[in-house]
Amino acid sequence: MATVLVTGGMGFIGSHTVISLHNNGFDVVIADNLSNSKTEVLNRLETITGKRFKFYKVDCCNKEELRKVFEENDIDSVIHFAGLKAVGESVRMPVEYYSNNINSLLTVVTLMNEFGVKKIVFSSSATVYGESEDVPFTEESPLGTCTNPYGWTKWMLEQVLRDCSVAYPELRVCLLRYFNPVGAHESGLIGEDPRGIPNNLFPYISKVAAGTLEKLTVFGNDYDTPDGTCLRDYIHVCDLADGHVRSLNYLATQSEGVSVFNLGTGKGTSVVEAIKAFEKACGHEIPHVFGPRRAGDIPVCYASTDKAREVLGFEAKRTIEDMCSSCWNWQTKNPQGLPED
Ligand code: WQD
Repeated sequence: MATVLVTGGMGFIGSHTVISLHNNGFDVVIADNLSNSKTEVLNRLETITGKRFKFYKVDCCNKEELRKVFEENDIDSVIHFAGLKAVGESVRMPVEYYSNNINSLLTVVTLMNEFGVKKIVFSSSATVYGESEDVPFTEESPLGTCTNPYGWTKWMLEQVLRDCSVAYPELRVCLLRYFNPVGAHESGLIGEDPRGIPNNLFPYISKVAAGTLEKLTVFGNDYDTPDGTCLRDYIHVCDLADGHVRSLNYLATQSEGVSVFNLGTGKGTSVVEAIKAFEKACGHEIPHVFGPRRAGDIPVCYASTDKAREVLGFEAKRTIEDMCSSCWNWQTKNPQGLPED
């Protein structure tokens, strides 16, 4: 059975992807330093799948620690999620973001080369497109000027992998550009569990709906959009997870090179529309006020999904209502998030 190493597999997208991989017959090994996740996720994954996944608490920047994972397992491919990913934090801590995100991937690729592992799926982001009037973004859309160090690390790491695919001809790379992953597994046992006050819209709305936070501030309603608030391509995290399985299967049919795919729904949803959808899911109003724009936000961002559909056969199935109801189910079942280690 092909063994996939999932770095950052205890995180929000990583843990949902582990479930999809397992359900599709892959053997999974998880490496995670738990800097933004908790060991309780492993128990939840076992409850959901019936499998106790092999887990290594390692920092992907530490070659000796990570080498042990390759030595002890017959790794056939890697899905690399491990990395710092808070946009605002990256502006305050650029050195940590460049050092951690770049060194972790360089370490992974070095060990892949050492152990003859030739397939990698990389967790990239729509942030690499920067700001553009020309939407929806296609995979051929020019890469833009990122608005924060987090986005630049994704931009740079895509280039690192392109250069590696030239240096190591048999290396096959899939760059997945996520739009806005939200929602939770249908069981409500795992979900987005940010520490402290959430930066992103859905976890913030969820806590307002639960009464943990007083109200939502909508960052600007004077954009050139139908209701004045920003449009985003929200995609259910379980659809995103399925996209990774399809990408891995696709890489198995390739002999070399770099493939790029947008993972989105192709639909733009406004902040106000997201609030309304969440109110339907939770059954009551979400207190919110309109405030000033947030620096770095772009008005409209949504994906062209043609290439992922035509090449991977990938199409997001879940609706914005599914995203809200699954998010709300996770929130009500875990009002304080997962227990700390
Ligand atoms: C969505 C919309 C905000 C919070 C980020 C990363 C991106 C990806 C997804 C990792 C915007 C508005 C938000 C709030 C608000 N992450 N908003 N009030 O900025 O589109 O993308 O997360 O890959 O890389 O950049 O997501 O959820 O922060 O914001 O009005 O309290 O919600 O202005 O229009 P974003 P977000």
